[in-house]
Amino acid sequence: MTVPMRGGTARNLERRTDGAIVARFAELLGTPLLPWQRLVADVAGEIDPDTGTYFYDTVILSTPRQCGKSTLVDAWDTRNTQWGPNRYVYYLAQTGKDAGDHFKKFLKTLQASPLAPITGRPYMGRGSEAQPFRNGSIIMPKSVTKVSGHGVQGDKVTLDEAFSLSEETGNMILDGFVPTMATRLQATGVQPQLWITSTEGTADSTFFNRKLDECRAGDQSRRTCWFDFGLPPDADPENLDMIMRYHPAAGLLWRRDQLPDFREQWRNNPSGWARAFGNQRDEGVTDRVIDADLWATTTVPPISPSELGARPVVFGVAVDVDATHTSISAGIVNDDGIVTTQLLKIMDGTGHAPAEIKRLCDTYAAPLVIDTRGTSADLADRLRHMGDEETVRFCDLTATDYLTVGQSYVSGLSNGTVLHAADTDLDASAANSARTWAGDAWRVTRRGSTGLTSPLESCMLAAWGAAHMPEEDGPLQIF
Ligand SMILES: Nc1ncnc2c1ncn2[C@@H]1O[C@H](COP(=O)(O)OP(=O)(O)OP(=O)(O)O)[C@@H](O)[C@H]1O
Ligand SMILES: [Mg+2]
Repeated sequence: MTVPMRGGTARNLERRTDGAIVARFAELLGTPLLPWQRLVADVAGEIDPDTGTYFYDTVILSTPRQCGKSTLVDAWDTRNTQWGPNRYVYYLAQTGKDAGDHFKKFLKTLQASPLAPITGRPYMGRGSEAQPFRNGSIIMPKSVTKVSGHGVQGDKVTLDEAFSLSEETGNMILDGFVPTMATRLQATGVQPQLWITSTEGTADSTFFNRKLDECRAGDQSRRTCWFDFGLPPDADPENLDMIMRYHPAAGLLWRRDQLPDFREQWRNNPSGWARAFGNQRDEGVTDRVIDADLWATTTVPPISPSELGARPVVFGVAVDVDATHTSISAGIVNDDGIVTTQLLKIMDGTGHAPAEIKRLCDTYAAPLVIDTRGTSADLADRLRHMGDEETVRFCDLTATDYLTVGQSYVSGLSNGTVLHAADTDLDASAANSARTWAGDAWRVTRRGSTGLTSPLESCMLAAWGAAHMPEEDGPLQIF
């Protein structure tokens, strides 16, 4: 049976491999390798003909949930303790409990297996669990937090559930381990290995995402092998036949007829399902700017130009990262002082934006709010230098003001002084916009968001402008 891989390192048949020995250990542990596990063992176990030890120093493995990642690591680690005496094998998981729970299961299996005679008596103290072997080697589960301060020096280190690590924490562990690899190789004659294993995580999985993205881009070192199982990026996770085709444990650890029940268990969490069974990264914004309930309850019908009457208007303009789009929104001050924000236009690029902004500002005798730094700096500059008689009126927005527009918009929605006109593009923007904190203030994060942020940002600016109309031109005239 072949296992469809989304991407990864192919077996190099010119090299011998230790895979068969790992497979034998797996059998003795009562979990004979599944085809995908064998494939990983065969490649990761390739022997460098020049050195007689592992060719790869780093193994990156991503599969859906419950495929047998940790079980494969156990078989591999047990085998690894037998390469020679006094070997140190670490199994790191997010918390001591995660690592310890997994370890207890492994111990039970090991002690009940025909391998028991090569083991010593396990240590079971909380936080100091360990399985020694007769040859002086030892397997130790640890929590990431515990080792991240000083690192680990070992012959095999696994970072399991790597999706839970931030880039900073993950790198701190690597910084401790990687420099010691060469000396351990010298001392033992066996190439130390680092395994990084996980199901895909979320946008917050900055450590694992970077590792996978590097591999996918072909930027990994030649001593890194990687294995990426799961649905192709454009495949529909609701298509159970596709899950069946790409899940490496399908038909082995469960059957096709169980899938509808599995899906049912994830009824309220489609992205959780896509991640668990499709190994698709959950790109959903975790820190969305505006809570979905608040957003839904502050929607009002759009105001058409003919209904506008004498209500003052301000325009807010925002530009997406790389100037892909320009959004223009109106802030309309209603008779009761409540401001309705309304998305008017999303334009491609910024080229046609000055003419359109000028037209709108003239038509409605309205001032303009635009950030003169950041992604809209160039557009703001062009608006300012359009020629004397054409210049639009700007609301003066300082850098400090800019850092408050988001929070004041959210506060306005919360206390009922700001509303937004129904618009599906604006809804999508509100759902996909995440925030970046700068001390106690925040702004919409453009690169970390998953869709256009300019529609929402332009509404925020328009609402701010409605509360800060420039006064010097006297009362506004509405045509
Ligand atoms: N080769 C195998 N033969 C039989 N059962 C296996 C095999 N590999 C794994 N399993 C079983 O499948 C289940 C999931 O395995 P495991 O916990 O290793 O998966 P995982 O990918 O690490 O899951 P998770 O994503 O939840 O951490 C366990 O009950 C395990 O015993
Ligand atoms: Mg696991």
